[in-house]
Parts: sequence; structure tokens; C-alpha cells
Amino acid sequence: MPSNVVVGGFFGDEGKGKIVAYLALKDKPEIAVRGGVGPNAGHTFTIGDNVNKVRMVPSALANKDTILMIGAGVLINPQVLLDEIERFNLHDRIFIDRRCGIITNEHIERDSAKDLKGRIGTTGSGSGPANADRALRRLPLAQDIKELAIYLADVSEKINDLLDRNGNLLVEGTQGTFLSLYHGTYPYVTSKDVTASAVCSDIGLGPKRVDDVTIVFKAYVTRVGEGELEGELSREEVERRGWLEIATVTGRTRRAAPFNLSLAKKAVMLNSATQIALTKLDIVYPECSKVREYDKLSDRAKTFIEEIEKELRVRVTLIGTGEDVYDIIDRRKEL
Ligand code: IMP
Ligand code: MG
Repeated sequence: MPSNVVVGGFFGDEGKGKIVAYLALKDKPEIAVRGGVGPNAGHTFTIGDNVNKVRMVPSALANKDTILMIGAGVLINPQVLLDEIERFNLHDRIFIDRRCGIITNEHIERDSAKDLKGRIGTTGSGSGPANADRALRRLPLAQDIKELAIYLADVSEKINDLLDRNGNLLVEGTQGTFLSLYHGTYPYVTSKDVTASAVCSDIGLGPKRVDDVTIVFKAYVTRVGEGELEGELSREEVERRGWLEIATVTGRTRRAAPFNLSLAKKAVMLNSATQIALTKLDIVYPECSKVREYDKLSDRAKTFIEEIEKELRVRVTLIGTGEDVYDIIDRRKEL
């Protein structure tokens, strides 16, 4: 599979970070590139005792041989990016597109205003105001920032060259389908489209060069910030089920609801998903914790997966059963 685009199927926080980290380790892509909005995303992946959280750099950093890139459509907070480059020692293997937009302190201030952080429940990361300024054509770009000069590249050229050579490309989207500015629950959405088409546009990959779209669904649905959440459970019920999560970027508690087949169906359509990655199966079915073979899952868990496949007509190829990147059932060979 030369190009594989990973996107979120619900409202973000589906576990894309873990899936991307696993695919990076397993498929050994030469390049992994991030599309999506910007540092409003928080992706987490755990290897052994190491819990890693990133907001800017691709989670594919888990594979030390993979070259990391950030596409032109992505907004960069230089401080957050440089801190992550330092923390994970990525100096020699990261490239950012010279046309990436730059978030300034002023954008962060504007995003913290009542109108955005209060009314919409934004992450306060400055992403919305920066994208607004980009549309007004007054946003600084990465090429204007001295500290970023050594990392600049033409990412679209590099990834298309790689595919010309039949190389392996992994694409990491951010947020989730229903946070899309166009296809989501407007106005409670992020500041641009985040479906697979948009992620490809972010990095400069044409629609005919996509081989696989892996859509990530969590075994239940969560949402932070405002906006509708069908079947939302009370806080007590969320805690009773052990579904309570704390948001990576904002520290807010996430609202939760059971898996939503009709939303999932729509998300498969909007992204033309070819594969499903289902995460946190062990949270809904604790007896499946750390199981790494499909046959060892409980009957009720298998029934849940079969129902998803029947309704969505897409195979569930990756199943997350624990926090560790290797707590996963990979059915891609057998299906
Ligand atoms: P913004 O993207 O910061 O403007 O926030 C708009 C909405 O998208 C808010 O409801 C945020 O909580 C949500 N959001 C943005 N990024 C993420 C993410 O990575 N995970 C989950 N929710 C997000
Ligand atoms: Mg997240």
C-alpha cells in the first residue's frame, strides 16, 4: 500500500495517534506527513512505559527511520513545534512546508475570547483566528520565520516524488469528520474541512494518488467543547462505564456516548474509507484487554465488530485492545 491516509471518523480523539504510530512501526513508511488543522490536535501514543503526546509533529515519529513532514495546509505554532523537535530529537528528520501558516500570540488571544472559547468551546490554540487571517491573506508563513528556516521544504514535491518511486507514504489527519467546517455540526466545528480530501489537499496529494483511507473510530464516541452529541450519557454513567477521558490539549473532560452506527456510516461515505481501525475495544469489553489475536476476542466483542462491518460494508482491519501501540489486532493480511 504505497499511500495510506488516516482520518478520524467522529469528533477527534478516536486514537489516531496510536494507529499512526503502529502503522509507522509496522509498515515502515519512508515518509509520514501530517495534514489537518494545527496545534489544536493532541495525539497520544504509548510504547512500553513511555506515553508520548504531540500536537504538531507526526505520531509516526515512533519509527526512527521514518522522515517526518508537515503539509502546507497545516498551521504551525513555532514554539510548540520547536519544543517537540527538541523533546523527540527530530532535528535531522523533519521537514515543514514553507507555506505552512504561522499562529501568533495575537491569534491565541483572539481564540481565548468569549466568542470562540466560550461559545464554541475551541481549544484556544489560535487555530481559528489564524485560518481566518489566512483567508484574508494576511497570515505570516513558515518561510517568514527565521527559526524555522533549517526545516523548510516543498513537502508536496517530496511526497509525490516518493510515490513516483513506489515508496510508502503514511498520511496523518487530525480532528474528526464531524468537526469539519463543511460536513460537521456547524458552528460547533473546527476552522476548516478535515475529511480525507482536505487532508490530501493540505499536503499536496491529488485524489488519484490515494491507495487506502483508514478511518479511525473509537468503540464509543467522545466530544469536547460544545455541540450536539447524540445519545450523550450523564457524567455519572460515563464514569460508571469507565469511559471518562481527559483532553490532551485543553485538559477538559470529554463528553461521551455509545458507538453511533449512522454517524459512522456517514463518515465512511465522506472519507471514502477503505479500512476501519477500531480503537479502545478493551474499554467497552474489558475481557479483550491486550488481546492480539482476533479469535481470542469475546463473542460479544466479535458480534460488535461484525455488526459494524455489516452495516458499513468496510472491513475492520485494525483493532486496538490496550494503550500500547502493540496492543492491536492487525487483520490486514488475513482479510
Ligand atoms: P478549534 O479547532 O480549537 O477551533 O475548536 C473547535 C472545536 O473543535 C472545539 O469543539 C474543539 O474542542 C474541537 N477540536 C479541535 N481539535 C480537536 C481535537 O484534536 N480533538 C478533539 N476535539 C478537537
Ligand atoms: Mg486528541
